[in-house]
Amino acid sequence: MSDEPALVVRLGDRSYPIHLGAGLLERAGELIAPLLRTPRVFLVTDAGLLATPHPARLSAGLGEAGLAVETLPVPAGESSKSFAGLERLIEALLERGIERHSAILALGGGVVGDLAGFAAAVVLRGVDYVQIPTTLLAQVDSAVGGKTGINTRHGKNLVGAFKQPRAVVVDVSVLDSLPARELRAGYAEIVKYGCIRDAAFFAWLEAHGPALLAGDPGARVRAVRRALEIKAEIVARDEREESGERALLNFGHTFAHAYEALAGYGSRLLHGEAVAIGMVRAASLSARLGLAPEADTRRLRRHLETVGLPVSPRDRDLAFAPEALLASMRHDKKIAAGRLRFVLWRGIGEAMLTEAVRTDVLLELLAAD
Ligand code: GLY
Repeated sequence: MSDEPALVVRLGDRSYPIHLGAGLLERAGELIAPLLRTPRVFLVTDAGLLATPHPARLSAGLGEAGLAVETLPVPAGESSKSFAGLERLIEALLERGIERHSAILALGGGVVGDLAGFAAAVVLRGVDYVQIPTTLLAQVDSAVGGKTGINTRHGKNLVGAFKQPRAVVVDVSVLDSLPARELRAGYAEIVKYGCIRDAAFFAWLEAHGPALLAGDPGARVRAVRRALEIKAEIVARDEREESGERALLNFGHTFAHAYEALAGYGSRLLHGEAVAIGMVRAASLSARLGLAPEADTRRLRRHLETVGLPVSPRDRDLAFAPEALLASMRHDKKIAAGRLRFVLWRGIGEAMLTEAVRTDVLLELLAAD
């Protein structure tokens, strides 16, 4: 197998490779060793993953590549992405003697990636880190693009830093042990890329999404690659979400964040499930505003339903008052100058940003749940 990365995120002297394939955990050591400045690495991982073969598979390859590994497990769950969780991790890194040229490896889902990435941004004023995502959601979204951070009592991801990794290693074989519900939730983010940028990819997903979810490794690699190509292009053009282009990655997310907040960020509604519902809302809103054909909303809804994703809170036995959803949206950090900003579409494959959404239209849409 070649050592050539599947993709490169092009950010000048902060460019980095994304290695993608099945069975890459064992090879991560040889792939990343040339990028590291000292052979001592700090493996930050989800304590829940210690019961899986993933950390041992990774560590064996790291050892073979001549790297010395210190493993630092963090408790599973969103509560690790907190000031207290950050403090514990940084204390542990300092106690074990992390140095300016050491590197942190983040093995896990979005919680571990965001927390370890933020620790890498601030400990000793910044050390290198590598993302090795183990959930589909992290593989196609949070592990690439350099957004790191923690939650506060005021909301999610409100404290953080843009800190690009030195490399990302995506091994689709780890998805075999992911619960089906979590896999589907991650798949919603893949559908998002078709929605915002690539109608042909959306059509490909309609044909191959079920095989991907059933375990077809070829379909998984192909879909993750296309999703990451789109993300890498967007991040290269608008790394810090300034021009509006990176904001397109939030298609469905303004609604999703409100549903998640009201559902309590737990197993009642997973992030990717909220994104699925939110994308259908964004599509409906676009159709109501005359921006996009209603037929595209129906097509999106049909595909999400076919793969078993919810398209309305009712599908998860949830119901929310429109006013409460609106109040929650107004707390979202994506608000610009006090105005709600929506990522809508002109149809499948073409997302756009707008602030021109009247409150009464929005309330009517939310009441239709
Ligand atoms: N998850 C959205 C972004 O990376 O910008």
